[in-house]
Amino acid sequence: MKDIRRSRVKQLLCGEITPEQQTVDVKGWVRTRRGNKNVQFVALNDGSSIKNIQIVFPLDTFSEEALKPITTGASIHVQGALVPSQGKGQSVEILAEELEVYGAADPAEYPLQKKGHTLEFLREKAHLRPRTNTFGAVLRIRHALAFAIHKFFNDKGFYYFHTPLITASDCEGAGAMFQVTTLPVKDAPRTEDGEIDYSRDFFGKMAALTVSGQLEGELGATALGNIYTFGPTFRAENSNTPRHLCEFWMIEPEMAFYDIRDNMDLAEEFIKYCINYALENCADDIAFLSEMYDKELVDRLRHVAGEEFVRLSYTEGIEILEKSGRKFEFPVKWGIDLASEHERYLVETHFRKPVILTDYPKEIKAFYMKLNPDGRTVRAMDVLFPKIGEIIGGSEREESYDKLIQAIEERHIPMKDMWWYLDTRRFGTVPHSGFGLGFERLVLFVTGMQNIRDVIPFPRFPGNCEF
Ligand code: 4AD
Ligand code: MG
Repeated sequence: MKDIRRSRVKQLLCGEITPEQQTVDVKGWVRTRRGNKNVQFVALNDGSSIKNIQIVFPLDTFSEEALKPITTGASIHVQGALVPSQGKGQSVEILAEELEVYGAADPAEYPLQKKGHTLEFLREKAHLRPRTNTFGAVLRIRHALAFAIHKFFNDKGFYYFHTPLITASDCEGAGAMFQVTTLPVKDAPRTEDGEIDYSRDFFGKMAALTVSGQLEGELGATALGNIYTFGPTFRAENSNTPRHLCEFWMIEPEMAFYDIRDNMDLAEEFIKYCINYALENCADDIAFLSEMYDKELVDRLRHVAGEEFVRLSYTEGIEILEKSGRKFEFPVKWGIDLASEHERYLVETHFRKPVILTDYPKEIKAFYMKLNPDGRTVRAMDVLFPKIGEIIGGSEREESYDKLIQAIEERHIPMKDMWWYLDTRRFGTVPHSGFGLGFERLVLFVTGMQNIRDVIPFPRFPGNCEF
């Protein structure tokens, strides 16, 4: 092997390196191999692009024996001349001169030997599925969206604020929590009343994985002005749906001096920015997924990024549903928590564009949302998307200490766990707002995939913690 610098496949294909018979060096995994007695063609992928580079092995230079380990899934290192391709489908190819095999992949054993596996099958092979075209595309889009999110907020002067993953408060009420403990499962120490004695646990109290970084995020916003969190959150709910995970990533901006309108404006601008960023930066991957799974994907993304979202109160939304004449599985009446079928009727059938629904009944929303003058609704806002349903949930926050205490008491939330949160309302309280975007729901929307388990490398859902 010559001492030359490796190129990524993407660089070779985008014309960054011109084919002037110069020697290039590539490393990657074999996707396919075909050919005849004189020449063998290998499609090599190194993860940098949905596209493969074609490598041509002339059989007068390479023996059958030397090429034997080159089967689907094997990892190889090739040097050769970058030349204009004579075949269709690519502009350049590599005429191989040197070959090194890093690792063979026995065709009798390699699970991804054939093309066209179902997504269900690939879920069972989550350790290898990043090597498929579909998951390569999804994971590159996922990366681009994460980057876009940081860029959006950084450009706006928001600070990335790190909130803890282990917490001792379940104030949010967003879902059942996963407990974190070092107490022995069998012989946990007990108090005199026979209860587990958490004072002898690692943190001296009961602890769990966080369901949201919002409450700590509010501490950041009431000091730094505008912050956002972006981290994993955990919910031990037993919801086996294509839109729920037990471990999912959430982005939670929190802004001092923002009211609900400012909050809605930010949410709309933010989500459109992310979609446009993906359209501009992930065109090849989106085109591939569209071709494979969802022909309307690009149109849908452009449509949502270009439309003004409808803004509507919950009460108006309920009226539309009641007048619709539709027979819903869950009957509609003021006060219900909207089900996916209701949200999707509004978005996909009635308005045919994203809807921001506001001012929900206080009984179905969290304690921290600002109470409206009517005394029965709160300044909540949910952004509802086609195919997805709720993609963002947020609100203006209750900044009045007294009203917040009342909301906590009405819901019987243990006060002693809340003292640090209440201090924001005791000292220099301000009007403020925020929201949470479910990252995987955004990735689901942008990739056009059907199941949230297929847009995170290692999904966590009830009964599944293999990889
Ligand atoms: O509506 P949620 O529960 O709101 C909060 O957690 C607030 N603390 C947010 C805030 O105001 N800072 O969750 C926010 C979003 C949902 O709209 C949804 O997109 C996503 O998180 N989400 C889930 N995504 C995947 N799996 C789950 N189990 C999810 N639960 C919520
Ligand atoms: Mg919600």
